[in-house]
Amino acid sequence: MPREVTHTAHGPRILTPADVDDEKGDVAICLCGLSEEYPFCDGSHRRTEDESPDTLYKYVDGERREVTVKEE
Ligand code: FES
Repeated sequence: MPREVTHTAHGPRILTPADVDDEKGDVAICLCGLSEEYPFCDGSHRRTEDESPDTLYKYVDGERREVTVKEE
């Protein structure tokens, strides 16, 4: 499932023991790129569950758009 995500950070975010979720006992890092709590997962990845593997998507201001890729 390809997805184009815009990142604006210019460096790493160092994780500390304070980042561990007290209830779950773990730290979930967002790999979908859509979390409002980035770099932590906030469940936003559920919005990607119906993405087609043959379509490129871009999420802008919470809205999903299909990206048309021109072939040369
Ligand atoms: S993996 Fe991105 S919000 Fe969960």
